[in-house]
Amino acid sequence: MFQNKAGILMALTLAFLLNLQGAEAITAEHVSVFVIFAQTHEPSGECMAEFDEDEMFYVDLDKKQVMWHLPEFGRTFSAEAQGGLANIATAKSNLNAYIQRSNHTQAPSEPPEVIVFPKEPVELGQPNTLICHIDKFFPPVLNVTWLRNGQPVTEGVSETVFLASTEFRFRKFHYLTFVPSADDVYDCRVEHWGLDAPLLTHWEAQEPIQMSETTETVVCALGLVVGLAGVVVGIVLIVKALRSSPDPRARGPL
Ligand SMILES: *[C@@H]1O[C@H](CO)[C@@H](O)[C@H](O)[C@H]1NC(C)=O
Ligand SMILES: *[C@@H]1O[C@H](CO)[C@@H](O)[C@H](O)[C@H]1NC(C)=O
Repeated sequence: MFQNKAGILMALTLAFLLNLQGAEAITAEHVSVFVIFAQTHEPSGECMAEFDEDEMFYVDLDKKQVMWHLPEFGRTFSAEAQGGLANIATAKSNLNAYIQRSNHTQAPSEPPEVIVFPKEPVELGQPNTLICHIDKFFPPVLNVTWLRNGQPVTEGVSETVFLASTEFRFRKFHYLTFVPSADDVYDCRVEHWGLDAPLLTHWEAQEPIQMSETTETVVCALGLVVGLAGVVVGIVLIVKALRSSPDPRARGPL
């Protein structure tokens, strides 16, 4: 794992001085991407792998352990935490060299684009998950908070590590398990140096426009009655028209 030390594709500095080392391999229709970076802000480093835009694993820097995104991956593939840790160490020493060489030049921040959407079709009362997708930002330093009716929520939340986006930017997912209710409103609050102020992206359950079953039955029955009445009226009119039409035989002999 991580034999391909594909040179440093990018190195940037600031107070968040960052060094990104990317290795991208394209085989047939499949793409695997490794994200390896070191920076002077939290998180100080990351090593993760994606396959066809799905997270495969990341290396937990404290536990020095490979964390598989799905347990099945760990039984099918192999990866060594040691390789990832060595790459981060290299990135860190390169980072220091780049800080000196760039004379502590600050890299520009790219603000995130944020969307919030539910995982499953929303049904009131049915447990669901809200997804906050934060994309196209740089550097990988974020504060993300879920708000329910304006109050921070800490229960039922989870998140991914930083994933690769386009043009050496990053993306990340935050999740909140919740039970949709007509009374609750949600916001995904994102802080990033590229934003002037915290960005709140709102979500709430749409006003339910479904009719109850009784209403549907009544509407259906009324429709049927109106339809039948129309048929009756039609027949009556036809009969009347026939009766009043001049019938040569009815006039009798001249
Ligand atoms: C580096 O930055 C310092 C402080 O801004 C400045 O005095 C110095 O001339 C710079 N050196 C180079 C080589 O640009
Ligand atoms: C995140 O929050 C901490 C504590 O409030 C703050 O110091 C830091 O600047 C914030 N980071 C960003 C990217 O806004």
